[in-house]
Amino acid sequence: MKLNYRGMTIYVEKDYAAMSRAAAELLVQTVKENSATVLGLATGSTPIGMYQEVVKAYQRGEVDFARTLSYNLDEYYPINHDNDQSYHYFMRENLFRHINILPENTHVPSGEAKDVERSAAEYDEKIYAIGGVDLQVLGIGNNGHIGFNEPAAIFAKGTGLVDLTESTISANSRFFASIDDVPKKAVSMGIATIMQAKRIMLLASGQGKAGIVAQTILGEITPQVPASALQLHRNVTFFLDEAAAAELLAKLGK
Ligand code: PGA
Repeated sequence: MKLNYRGMTIYVEKDYAAMSRAAAELLVQTVKENSATVLGLATGSTPIGMYQEVVKAYQRGEVDFARTLSYNLDEYYPINHDNDQSYHYFMRENLFRHINILPENTHVPSGEAKDVERSAAEYDEKIYAIGGVDLQVLGIGNNGHIGFNEPAAIFAKGTGLVDLTESTISANSRFFASIDDVPKKAVSMGIATIMQAKRIMLLASGQGKAGIVAQTILGEITPQVPASALQLHRNVTFFLDEAAAAELLAKLGK
């Protein structure tokens, strides 16, 4: 099912596999149309299926990433980039090493920088200098975060160091040996960095995201639900599975 709501495009797919295929199709099509596309990429469980579909398309010879650039949303801080919980590691394992994107064309905020604020500011400068992100991929946290922009009193502008909330630390502890091993901070693109992307795609799957998805699309635009800022963007596409879309569809009477 395809819906339009206040200028936002929403695809509701049967399940996670179908949602992943639909999302991959947009990403692959974008790179096919312009091989020098600048991708904004996301980590987390949700986009893994999409990345697998992208890899399959590459293996079938449908798409070439030789000129593609990528900028990831976030990274834990501090974290060693070889740590298997780092987002550097995640991106290498789930996407980069399976396609022909050049390592020097891939960028993830540094979890190792000594002067983290400076390194974060330089990250934004690099993005702006190349003319910005063409297609930004997002997941969404249970608390409405995009990247690691947690609910707050104001929308963060640029890339910077952020404190993770208890809810995010607890959600992400499933990847670590214990909750105490989850880093308490991260470097994240800001909301302004995300919003300057020419096109944004947000993926959400499962019943646990149904409430926050409905709030993001239908609720107030508030930094308490950072993803609600997407209502202000002119080219945003949501890829949802039926479980994640359930509350939205019920509220829209669909
Ligand atoms: P998840 O994380 O895909 O693992 O649910 C989403 C997020 O926190 O942005």
